[in-house]
Amino acid sequence: MEEVFKIEGGHQLNGEVRISGAKNATVALIPASILANGPVTICGVPDIADVESLSTLLEELNVAVVHKDRGHLIIDPTEMVNRPLEHPAVTKLRASYYFMGALLGKYKHVKIKMSGGCYLGPRPIDLHLKGFEALGAKVDYQKGCYTIEAEELIGTKIFLDISSVGATINIMMAAVYAKGRTTIENAAKEPEIIDVATLLNKMGAHIRGAGTNVITIDGVDHLSGCFHEIIPDRIEAGTFIIMAAAAAKEMKITNIIPQHLESLLSKLQEMGVDMEVDVDSVTIRGGGKLQGVDIKTLPYPGFATDLQQPLSALLTQAKGKSTIRETIYPERFKHCIELQRMGADISVGQGSCTIEGITPLYGDRVTATDLRCGASLVVAGLLAEGVTEIHEIYHIERGYDDLDGKLRALGANIWRETIE
Ligand code: EPU
Repeated sequence: MEEVFKIEGGHQLNGEVRISGAKNATVALIPASILANGPVTICGVPDIADVESLSTLLEELNVAVVHKDRGHLIIDPTEMVNRPLEHPAVTKLRASYYFMGALLGKYKHVKIKMSGGCYLGPRPIDLHLKGFEALGAKVDYQKGCYTIEAEELIGTKIFLDISSVGATINIMMAAVYAKGRTTIENAAKEPEIIDVATLLNKMGAHIRGAGTNVITIDGVDHLSGCFHEIIPDRIEAGTFIIMAAAAAKEMKITNIIPQHLESLLSKLQEMGVDMEVDVDSVTIRGGGKLQGVDIKTLPYPGFATDLQQPLSALLTQAKGKSTIRETIYPERFKHCIELQRMGADISVGQGSCTIEGITPLYGDRVTATDLRCGASLVVAGLLAEGVTEIHEIYHIERGYDDLDGKLRALGANIWRETIE
């Protein structure tokens, strides 16, 4: 038995959709909360499966977790116990690796299984581990489990060979209680990193430079509980903006930070999408003629790799040739095979794909091989003639808060069905 999404294409979207809190900030803020010595309240937590998995891991550590209405999550680590994290929930998502930095930072010792998450080609964590080692920790890996421990963590200068989001956040967390100053050079600049630094600073940490490529962390002795509101999800926002460009008459996407979406909005403008950007919303009027464009994914503020998959589906409706060059995850093209099944004219090369438009799309049985592939197939389903049946929707549920409910409210004909 499996639950699938079914989408009948061709229904116009209209109205307003409110964007939830950022998944990739949330999944770091939750582990970061255990660094406090009192309750942390996080507001705007999206209702996604990754939050459930992280809550399970907090409970494993004897951390009290209370889910309140309207996305309030209270995390109280007062009675916390530093147990090995070997629960199957560790492998359900990538971000469980943030417990490495958080537990190492707080207890100087952590034992945790290798994390899971979407398969996008190789996703090494060598830079995280090198960062911990630079702070004075020893890393041991046996039977799928990491043990990382230190007698003392001492601040130092760490240069990241690649500006990795995960390594930047993990090192930041490991360094908040370290002695002296840690400097992360070539740090990632994603807005989610600023959000985590903001939470830690509210707790009493001394982190400067988040959002630039040099971050300094001056170690402190104590962190307290605090209240924090998560930034809006720029990838969920981008996904709805793409859906609006694909299938809306007029649709307003609210609770966004337009600055976080500049690379997407300027590409859509180049494609000919009619949009009006306001302080915290954007209104899209779909239905116009679209032109193919070339895209190269890059670290923030460049074009987000997480949005190239949803955009691929829209590019099938743009005139001429579009090329996507993927520089972050060169193998992140599994969605192309699924889109081909629906009629798209896409060829995949080394780290890139070429899409020829305009091709009509037809509903078919397709598989969400990863989270953003799932989003791409939903975009295609809205555009396709007939019914699209999407399998393995647990990938979509890991990262999108009520995607089908939000789309139904906009007029889409999408439903869940349990099939044999
Ligand atoms: N990398 C290394 N060594 C490392 C770490 C990263 O070589 O130790 C490489 C990666 O293989 C990749 C590049 O550096 O080529 C960037 O990876 P990064 O570490 O920045 O990615 P991540 O932290 O694992 C986060 C998001 C991803 C998003 C990427 C890039 C979370 C939980 N995940 O992953 O989000 O694609 O940054 O922006 O924050 C998604 O939401 O669908 C998703 C996959």
